[in-house]
Amino acid sequence: MTARWHAGQPIAGAKVAVTRPDLPGDALRRLGSRAIVDAFPERRPLSEGELIALAAGCHALICQSSDRVTAGVVAAAPHLEVVATVSVGYDHLDLAALNAARVLATNTPGVLSETTADMAWALILATRRRVVEADRLVHAGGWQAEGFELLPALDVHGSTLGIVGLGAVGQAVARRAQGFEMEVIYHSRTTSADTRFERVSLDELLRRADIVTLHVALSAETRGLIGERELGLMKPSSVLVNTSRGAVVDQAALATALAEHSIAAAGLDVTAVEPIQMDDPILGLPNCIVLPHIASATVPTRSRMAEIAVEAVRAAIDGEVPANLINGQILEEASRS
Ligand code: DGY
Repeated sequence: MTARWHAGQPIAGAKVAVTRPDLPGDALRRLGSRAIVDAFPERRPLSEGELIALAAGCHALICQSSDRVTAGVVAAAPHLEVVATVSVGYDHLDLAALNAARVLATNTPGVLSETTADMAWALILATRRRVVEADRLVHAGGWQAEGFELLPALDVHGSTLGIVGLGAVGQAVARRAQGFEMEVIYHSRTTSADTRFERVSLDELLRRADIVTLHVALSAETRGLIGERELGLMKPSSVLVNTSRGAVVDQAALATALAEHSIAAAGLDVTAVEPIQMDDPILGLPNCIVLPHIASATVPTRSRMAEIAVEAVRAAIDGEVPANLINGQILEEASRS
């Protein structure tokens, strides 16, 4: 079966659906007059029904990691040729449905690794040194006297950094650790050529690390990777940082570990449900920092991500092979059949 997209065959009157009203950096200008753009008017995750309505008559869909492109969305969009997500992660795309319908999918790798690593470090420093708690204390009028007892914290320099997933972001996090004279251990599918970093099993990493930072993609293998048993292996003085995907951690087990101080603190850029529900127990824990999934959200990085996604759509509707294909195998299969 061939892909819906055909090399060298531009789509006349292409319709492009976008799941937000304002892509960063005016990226849509790249499409010029090549396409009719239909943008969802609000800045929030779309329900499946809203996404179905938006994508129904479109040839291309530009979405972000909070938009679930389900089998229902794919089935309701018979003209859809390409889905371009403005993210590196693509666990929100039903790839099996896209592949079965021969719809191309692209992402934005490469450009956000350093920015995301910066945020992992912001959370490492903030959790170890209790930065958010200290700020809250001052704003609440709690700074009455200086004292050795005021917010005793944990060192970053000279400690052991445990990196789970040594891909592009994990490596960028590891490089930054050199300035803090840290021991770096990692758990990953492959061995790094960098001999300064020691590859260990996940259990050994959890037992040894003062800081555990997660940099794996969400997959069947990594869903719930850090649960009650794994948290139980961590030291009471250790912290957990997650800038990957919320579902990599069992959040209920994490809330218990934090409440019982079986680990010292956690810094989360991602949560099990996004946006987080205000009655989530994790929000009541002073030793947990929660950010609204903003690790890659600097102006230059988000603009670059949007431009890459729009360029993929421009290429596809002009009959060119888009860059950063997630499911390029459907083109290879088509050329063999
Ligand atoms: C990504 O690119 O996957 C980031 O998490 C933002 O969605």
